[in-house]
Amino acid sequence: MTTPTPLRVGVVGLGYAGTTHLESFAGIPGVEVVALAGKEAPRLAELGATHGIPSLHADWEELVDLPDLDIVSIATPNVLHGPIALAALASGKHVFCEKPLALTAAEARAMVAAAHENDRVLEVAFNHRRRADVQFARRYLDETGIGRIYHVRASWKRRSGIPGLTSWFTSKTMAGGGALIDLGPHVLDSVLFLLGEPRVTAVSAVTHGELGRAGYGAMNRQEQMASESGLFEVEDLASALLRLDDGASIAFEISWAGHTVDDEDISIELLGVDAGIRIFVPRYRGEDTVRIYRDVDGEEVTLAPEVIVPGGEHPLVIAEFVDVVRSGDWAAHHGDFALHRTEVLDACYRSAAEGREVTL
Ligand SMILES: NC(=O)c1ccc[n+]([C@@H]2O[C@H](COP(=O)([O-])OP(=O)(O)OC[C@H]3O[C@@H](n4cnc5c(N)ncnc54)[C@H](O)[C@@H]3O)[C@@H](O)[C@H]2O)c1
Repeated sequence: MTTPTPLRVGVVGLGYAGTTHLESFAGIPGVEVVALAGKEAPRLAELGATHGIPSLHADWEELVDLPDLDIVSIATPNVLHGPIALAALASGKHVFCEKPLALTAAEARAMVAAAHENDRVLEVAFNHRRRADVQFARRYLDETGIGRIYHVRASWKRRSGIPGLTSWFTSKTMAGGGALIDLGPHVLDSVLFLLGEPRVTAVSAVTHGELGRAGYGAMNRQEQMASESGLFEVEDLASALLRLDDGASIAFEISWAGHTVDDEDISIELLGVDAGIRIFVPRYRGEDTVRIYRDVDGEEVTLAPEVIVPGGEHPLVIAEFVDVVRSGDWAAHHGDFALHRTEVLDACYRSAAEGREVTL
């Protein structure tokens, strides 16, 4: 059975993510954003007026209760992803959810089970894997290859990049964690995608929150000053060794803050037995981010393929989600990939808390 068009969407959240969802859905022919929810009343009214949205709500419950929505798009603090998705799926709506899927593996499993039971799409916004450099590397692995990949070094590091020292981002209850649950889903997703979806079998992780607790490392300098009385219950750095079912391993490091060089960079190094690939993205750079290391005629060479990253990955994943909903073929889109990512992050937190390796 295919879903009738136009598709009717309700977006929950008015921040960066919610606005991106709203604009992305509104830009797709045959898709209408008919409802919007969020706490900031002036912003709600402004976005409602700009986009001609008839149904505006302060609480997500009212939006999810609307009988004639096809899709609920979730762009709220992490703690609400689970409750909103469960309610939306139970009432027969498809769900597009921001990362992370959930706060814990148990919550994520319940969401994925609900998507299967109600036969609805549950997709997570893994927009980083849509970057042209990550897609280039995936194609290079398929078409040329680097031999068996035995180890990956993957990181996202910031010098001063705590997203809100006084907001929900640094509350354990609201966010579920800090840098790892915020930036980790993107890096882990890109790596597992590049490796062809191996399963992570064990993790050994540590977390640290010294800088955030001391009020350092805020992205916004004023928050840094205000943060002595602020809330910082999470980690600003996580480091983990992940073991994979094919014998390979991933050294994984995510940090919001650190007294170190560079403002911000994302790095993924794939080490294969025949060659290596590195994607290195300083400050969200959109070109010259890929290197390939291999021997040619007995000589070490470094290739720098021309790959331009045009941006616009978030609208792209939303367009793909709409295509899946329209296709009626939802069997592979109940959130199972996203669930494994949350299981891994959850295991990292457990490993760090218990000071031991955790098996999945
Ligand atoms: N994929 C990405 O690249 C990306 C980028 C930024 C944020 N995110 C994710 O998006 C989510 C939101 O992040 P953000 O930066 O936009 O946050 P934000 O704090 O700017 O916005 C959160 C929104 O949720 C709304 N909200 C809170 N409680 C609500 C309730 N009970 N009912 C209705 N609305 C409610 C708030 O009013 C606000 O508009 C997070 O999960 C974050 O991890 C993803």
